[in-house]
Amino acid sequence: MRKPPIRATVTAVSHYAPDKVLSNFDLEKMVDTNDEWIRARTGIRERRILENGATSDLAVPAIREILEQRGIGPDEIDVLVVTTVTPDMFFPSTACVIQEKLKLQNAWGFDLSAACSGFLYGLVVGAQFIESGTHKKVLVVGADKMSAITDYTDRNTCILFGDAAGAVLLEPSEDYEAGLLDHVMYCDGSGGEFLYMKGGGSLNPPTHETVDKKYHYIYQDGKAVFKVAVVGMADVSEEIMKRNNLTGDNVDWLVPHQANLRIISACADRMNLAIEKVMLNIDRYGNTTAATIPLCLSEWWKDGKLLKDQNLILSAFGAGYTWGAMYLKWTMDNA
Ligand code: UT7
Repeated sequence: MRKPPIRATVTAVSHYAPDKVLSNFDLEKMVDTNDEWIRARTGIRERRILENGATSDLAVPAIREILEQRGIGPDEIDVLVVTTVTPDMFFPSTACVIQEKLKLQNAWGFDLSAACSGFLYGLVVGAQFIESGTHKKVLVVGADKMSAITDYTDRNTCILFGDAAGAVLLEPSEDYEAGLLDHVMYCDGSGGEFLYMKGGGSLNPPTHETVDKKYHYIYQDGKAVFKVAVVGMADVSEEIMKRNNLTGDNVDWLVPHQANLRIISACADRMNLAIEKVMLNIDRYGNTTAATIPLCLSEWWKDGKLLKDQNLILSAFGAGYTWGAMYLKWTMDNA
């Protein structure tokens, strides 16, 4: 394992979720489904929906809070990495839109697309800027307005997704033995046929036909993705624990991507981790794609449950397929 000369660590964390709640009971009135099925199969009770605005409008309040929490000005940010599959537009990037909205005048930035693994990919990329010594303050944001690409007549997918954003600030760590200590990342494009949005890109530019065929919505073969996700997330979590000599006893929190409670439980079982050590908020937000992991970190830290020096395993699986895990030792003072 390569040891960087400088460690990156999280020095601020925040999230934003819109106020409007879409409950399972609301969905019962829209498609042929029911609260009991959704809770039993996924663990979701409700999700949040952004009625007006775009993905940048989810990210902006989260970043504003980061600046306040850290007591820094917008001009102090060096890089902005926005992980999303629902950018405001194809171009300019959502990073550029946010840079202008918040006047991050000394930052450059870009969007990164890795679906539900987006935030982990973003953390790994953001850490490189710190570890190389070239940048001091890197914002990594996971933000998705999944309601913009969800077909609310398709019960297979519309029950799953919600809108939210989460963000962290990465800075060089004073403690070399803490911060983002290790990661294992994967992708396998052979999984592309099971979870995608076909339309709008150069393969299927928008036409009346692509709209009629619903190419601009998420398609998922849930059963196929479930089978691979349940093994993939558990495998990668176990792999990162083994190579860092971690066990279920010395891991304090599993911070999993929130796609399905059953996938998360299987992952915790494989890690020999009690479910009490798993950050879970899928019941309140559903699957917010790139936002799930920072949304957990932010809520747990603000609730005083995520404490300095705790060992965290972050783990995700998503479209692509993309997946991975990270070992993070938390360095923020207690909230
Ligand atoms: O985040 C990125 C990665 N994504 C994931 O990790 C998601 C992975 N997949 C899943 O989480 C699960 O596959 C789902 C939650 C999407 C579906 O659960 P499942 O246990 O795999 O259900 P299923 O698709 O096999 O459907 C079982 C039955 C079917 O009926 P029949 O064919 O047995 O008669 C479905 O038609 O449930 C039916 N069904 C529903 N019933 C009520 C499917 N959706 C619904 C629904 N309400 N919303």
